[in-house]
Amino acid sequence: MSAPINTVLGPGSVSPSAAPSPSAGVVALDLTGRTALVTGAASGIGRACALRLAAAGARVRAVDRAAEGLETLVGEAAGLPGSVAPRLLDLTDLDAAEGAAAGADILVNNAGLQLVRPIEDFPPDVFHTVLTVMLEAPFRLIRGALPHMYAQGWGRIVNLSSVHGLRASAFKSAYVAAKHGLEGLSKTAALEGAPHGVTSNCVSPGYVRTPLVERQVDDQAAAHGIPREQVLSEVMLKDSALKRLIEPEEVAEAVLYLCTPQASFITGTSLTLDGGWTAH
Ligand SMILES: NC(=O)c1ccc[n+]([C@@H]2O[C@H](COP(=O)([O-])OP(=O)(O)OC[C@H]3O[C@@H](n4cnc5c(N)ncnc54)[C@H](O)[C@@H]3O)[C@@H](O)[C@H]2O)c1
Repeated sequence: MSAPINTVLGPGSVSPSAAPSPSAGVVALDLTGRTALVTGAASGIGRACALRLAAAGARVRAVDRAAEGLETLVGEAAGLPGSVAPRLLDLTDLDAAEGAAAGADILVNNAGLQLVRPIEDFPPDVFHTVLTVMLEAPFRLIRGALPHMYAQGWGRIVNLSSVHGLRASAFKSAYVAAKHGLEGLSKTAALEGAPHGVTSNCVSPGYVRTPLVERQVDDQAAAHGIPREQVLSEVMLKDSALKRLIEPEEVAEAVLYLCTPQASFITGTSLTLDGGWTAH
C-alpha cells in the first residue's frame, strides 16, 4: 500500500495546499501588490518586461545605466495599473547591485551586452565586463533578493538567458560563457529556493528584434566574411525553423507567466523561445 502523500513530505516541504486550486478556473495573470526588479529595463526585452509586469499590476524597479531610456520608459508606463520607478545604476558596481535587490518579490535578471569577435581578437577587458554584468551581477542580485523572498516564503527569479545558454555560436565566447553560467546559476537558485517558495528559471530566446541585435549586424558580417544583407538569413535565422525574429513583447509574456502564482511548479528549467533552433 502506498503512503498517503502528506507522510511522504518531509519537514519544511511545501504542503499541497500551497498550490493554486485546480478548480479556480481561468485566473488573470495578476501581480498586484508585488515588487519586481528588472535590470536592463531601458531598452529591448527589459523595457518590454517592465511594461508587461506593470500592466499586470506590479510595482517595477527599473534598473539601467541609460538615463534617457529609463526616462522614456517611465513616460510609457504612465496609466498602467502598476508603476515603474527608475533606478540609474551600472551593474558593474556589484555591491550597489546587491543592495538594489533588497525587498524585491520578483527579480528579472535581463541586462546584457554583446561583442562578436574571434577569440584571438577578443579584448580581455570586454570578456571581463560581459561576465561581470551577465553572470556576477545576477548572482549578486539574487543574493540581495533572497533574504526577503525566503522570509515571506514566496519569490520569483527569471533569468534572461538565450539559446546561447544552451548552444554555442562562433565568435561569441564571452556571451556564450556568461549565458551557460547563468543557466547553471539559475538551476542552483531553484534547488536552494524550493523549500522557501522561491522559483528560478531561465527564458532562453533566439534572436529578438532589439538594439542589441541591430548593433551586431556589422560585426557578424565581418566575422563571417559575408555582406550585411545576408546576416539575417545566413547567421541569425540559419538554425531557426521559424524564419523571423521574435518580438520583445513575446518574450515579456513568457517572463510574466513565470512570475505568476500559476507557474509555482515550474522551477530549475529553461523556457526556450527559439523558433525550433534547439530541436536540431
Ligand atoms: N536580442 C536578442 O536577440 C537576445 C536573444 C537572447 C537573449 N537576449 C538577452 O536579453 C537581454 C536583453 O537584451 P536586449 O536585446 O533587450 O538588449 P538591449 O541592448 O536592447 O538592452 C540591454 C540593456 O541592458 C543595459 N545594460 C547593459 N550593461 C549594463 C550595465 N553595466 N549596467 C546597467 N545596465 C546595463 C543597457 O543599457 C540596455 O538598456 C540580454 O541579457 C540578452 O543577452 C537577447
